This record gives sequence, C-alpha cells and structure tokens, in this order.
Amino acid sequence: MTEVVHTPRVFSGIQPSGGLTLGNYLGALKRFAEMQDTGGMQTIYCMVDLHAITVWQDPDKLAHATRELCAGFLASGVEPEKSILFNQSQVAEHAQLAWIFNCVARMGWMKRMTQFKDKTGKNAENASLGLFAYPALMAADILIYHATHVPVGEDQKQHVELTRDIAIKFNNDYGVDFFPVTEPVIEGAATRVMSLRDGSKKMSKSDPSDMSRINLTDDADAISKKIRKAKTDPDPLPDSIEGLEGRPEARNLVNIYAALADLTPEQVIAEHAGQQFGTFKPSLADLAVAKLEPISTEMSRLMQDPAEIDMILRRGAMRAREIAAPILERTYEIVGMVR
Ligand code: TRP
Repeated sequence: MTEVVHTPRVFSGIQPSGGLTLGNYLGALKRFAEMQDTGGMQTIYCMVDLHAITVWQDPDKLAHATRELCAGFLASGVEPEKSILFNQSQVAEHAQLAWIFNCVARMGWMKRMTQFKDKTGKNAENASLGLFAYPALMAADILIYHATHVPVGEDQKQHVELTRDIAIKFNNDYGVDFFPVTEPVIEGAATRVMSLRDGSKKMSKSDPSDMSRINLTDDADAISKKIRKAKTDPDPLPDSIEGLEGRPEARNLVNIYAALADLTPEQVIAEHAGQQFGTFKPSLADLAVAKLEPISTEMSRLMQDPAEIDMILRRGAMRAREIAAPILERTYEIVGMVR
C-alpha cells in the first residue's frame, strides 16, 4: 500500500452548451471566484466540451459557447493567474483516464444514475453511449487532478458519489491508496436560482421563455424588465423567513437579492419586511443591474478578441497537463500497462 496525503484541490466543470444565466453566476461562477481566494486551495476550472457532445452540438456553436463560457469565467472574477482555466478536450488525459474508469464502474451503478433516466425517459435506446458513460468521464475530470473538493449543484451530487465509488473500487481492485475520496461541496438552497416565471423550476437556459431567466449577456434594460415582470404573489414581504413558506416566487427573489448583495436571506427579510413587490422589485432590479451589467459589458469586450481567449485556454491546458500527465502515467503503471 502506498500511503498518499492528498493536498486539498478544488475542481469543477461547466458544459459549454448554450448561454450562461444568473443561475450559473450565483450557483457556480461567483463561488468559483471566491474559492480561489480562500482556504489556500489550488482551484482548477474546466469547460467540459467533451461532455457537451454527449448530445449533438453544432460545431460552430460549440466553439462559440466554449469561448463565451471562458469570457463568463473571466468576467465573474476567475483569474487565469490564480486558477487553472481550460477546456477539457485540450487535456487528453481526461479521456484516457475515463476509459480506465469505464472498466472500473459497473453497469448496475451507471443504470442507477437519475440524470440519465430523467434526460432520456422513454428514449434511452436512442441516447448516445457517451451520455450513458458521461459520469465516468466526470469522475476522470475530477480524479485526474486528485481533486479533493468539487463544488456542484444538487443535481450533480449523485455523480460525485459515483466518483467516490470509482476511486474506492479502483484503490481496492489494485491494492493501492492512489485516488482520493472526493468531497462534494453542494451549493446551498440560497444560491439555487429558480425561474422568474415559476418558482418551483430551476432557472434554465433551455426554458422556452426568455423572461424566465436573466442571461449574463443581458443589458441593463433587459435585466430590469425581467425582474419587474417576475411572477410574484399579492402579499407583502413577511417579517421572518418562515413567512416565505409556500411562496416559492417570493423566496426566489429574496434569495437572489441576498446572493447578489452578499447578505443572508434573513438579513434581506429584516431590511425589507412588510414591503410590497412594487417597492422591493425596483430595489432588486437596481441591485441586479449594478452587479450584472459590468459582467455583461466585460464579456462582450472579451468576446471581441477570441484569439486572446484561445491563448488563455491553451496556457491553462498546459498547466493542467503538468498535473494530469504524471497521474495518468502512474495509473497506467498500477493497471499494468507497459510503459
Ligand atoms: N456534469 C456537470 C454538469 O453538467 C459538469 C461537469 C463535468 C463537472 N465534469 C465535472 C462538474 C467535474 C464538476 C466536476 O453540470
């Protein structure tokens, strides 16, 4: 048994498949930027283009979405000097380790993945093999860096648990203590942003109504209009958090306010108790414009120079490979591949 002490390392990934929303910002990008300044952990953030093609992507749109996602990371405060920022396909070790993990993970484990079942429903027979195997690639993304902490949304928790199972089985099968058992860092309910039209649904880039979401590329007018038109109920804001029970739309706007202002929902309630939405929504709209307009402006500035973005991704990939390559080499050795 080789005893390994794993230095704390953060890894997370986002798919470049369509635009970014306020949900991506508050649930992921903003947190990712904060994590690079706290805890002395190395932070590695990846645009997972190999994951995106598990469902067909138009090639031009995929390239555009990858660059726009990179611009979103940068505009949200992720700095390429502090974090390793790159797109997955430029570091071949992800796909190479994924193959090994395809041979570690069991069919029974994969068949239990609820996201695959939810996404494919009755059409599972027609889904790509890649969509089924996707969580093993995700485990490879994480473990090729021996990452110990993975910030993700609640919907990815099962995939991080699978990553733990794969690490444990690999270590057992080969009698090593090589892969760390990764901790999911699940986003809190307060940063889960719901649709502006239906407080019980997650804000999503695939919702047919553009009024249901704030895009990170929206300008001030669009942001303000969408918040003013957000669905609410006729009651004023309560004077305690418990008063938001059964009022998902009201709760969502309070949560958004709190996350944008770096306050707790309790503090927002304390400040705005008794207000009508006719008063609260304009304050929220002003706050959202103040926080988000600089991001959309910076994103469009960055998108004017795609060569600069490509260079950042290429440099990030080189740094990522410095960590990934020796871990893949050691994995191959453990498995018995002649080097
Ligand atoms: N599956 C994640 C999602 O769809 C994206 C992802 C891919 C990821 N690899 C990852 C997240 C590794 C965290 C760690 O949201």
